[in-house]
Amino acid sequence: MLDFEFYNPTRIVFGRNTIPRLADLVPQAARVLVLYGGESARKNGTLDEVKAALGDRDVAEFGGIEPNPTFETLMKAVEQVRREGRDFLLAVGGGSVIDGTKFVAAAVPFEGDPWSILETHGANVERALPLASVLTLPATGSEMNKGSVITRRATTSKLAFLSDHCFPQFSILDPTKTFTLPARQVANGVADAFTHVVEQYLTYPVGALVQDRFAESLLQTLIEIGPKAVAAPADYDLRANLMWTATLALNGLIGAGVPQDWATHMIGHELTAAHGIDHARTLAVVLPSLLRDRRAAKRGKLLQYAERVWGITDGTEDARINAAIARTEDFFHGLGIRTRLADYGLDAAAIDPLVAQLEAHGMTAIGEHGDITPTVSRRILEAAL
Ligand code: NZQ
Ligand code: ZN
Repeated sequence: MLDFEFYNPTRIVFGRNTIPRLADLVPQAARVLVLYGGESARKNGTLDEVKAALGDRDVAEFGGIEPNPTFETLMKAVEQVRREGRDFLLAVGGGSVIDGTKFVAAAVPFEGDPWSILETHGANVERALPLASVLTLPATGSEMNKGSVITRRATTSKLAFLSDHCFPQFSILDPTKTFTLPARQVANGVADAFTHVVEQYLTYPVGALVQDRFAESLLQTLIEIGPKAVAAPADYDLRANLMWTATLALNGLIGAGVPQDWATHMIGHELTAAHGIDHARTLAVVLPSLLRDRRAAKRGKLLQYAERVWGITDGTEDARINAAIARTEDFFHGLGIRTRLADYGLDAAAIDPLVAQLEAHGMTAIGEHGDITPTVSRRILEAAL
């Protein structure tokens, strides 16, 4: 096992009718800014419940945080917080709203150009406003981690930052709040969480027994419940299991003491930034192709994945690896997610600009061995056409 330090201060309040807990969890004297996305949180009543729970606190709103939240929009929230002297940020929404809120929390007290927070991937963040979340979309794990991914429209850049100052203080996870999600977003959430586990598990063996078995149980749970959760909008137990699995997939626990890949995400972020493809769908395109390309370096873990996650024990080692990757791709298809670039209207002409953007963003030595160079990324994208 590799050495590690594990820190996660986020309180999780999980279950039905948990939004009223805001009344105790948010400091009474807080000057709150509630941040949300488009209209979903208002339409399904979540926003009203949140405001009712906040009672007579001084509360303002900032709406309009878009999927793949942009620096341009979020800077308006930064101005509002500074102007009104807000001191507590409450995100109500999915990963985009929570990520955006983390950025606002870090940017408000930041001296200098706030975009540098992304350029340094959070290394220059020394403080942040307190933040918390009410989660409405199980997918990213942002509700219990210190990561955030922000897009700058002007330069077509989608970059991540991490900071210990940006963990939510608490997150409210009420599975009934996911009942209004469109099937497409539920499928996205399953595929995103699945890929988060794979990025931290399917690397090379380091004898981390419990991390491996924990990761395998999360993958098996997603395989068991994912397609059912997409098909059944109001099944509490399915949504509860999906919500907690997605949180555990990226709250730092399974990634402690193991090598991590994240190349699928880095390549996927360029696809979203350049072509607006949903985050999870970019992962479903890149991951199978990446696994095929990296099969030698990932051989030990691919065989373990084949056997323990998919129950594949027959055939040569190569046949088992092929079968496991094919099952992975079929799993995405079973969620209604296509896995080829062509399915999203892209052809070979798209690849040069994507590789150029990876280079521009410093993504030239990615993956668990740092050996996914632009040449390898190109090969992975070409094989995904
Ligand atoms: O904007 P509204 O109207 O609220 O609609 C949203 C949005 O259109 C809708 N939605 C959310 N909850 C709903 C709902 N619709 C009906 N009922 C509900 N209960 O869903 C749409 C997508 O929301 P979004 O927040 O964009 O989705 P997701 O949670 O998948 O977040 C994706 C973002 O997270 C980043 C991605 O890059 C992407 O920008 N990620 C963040 C990570 C992290 N912080 O650790 C890790 C991930 O790998 C990922 O990169
Ligand atoms: Zn993701």
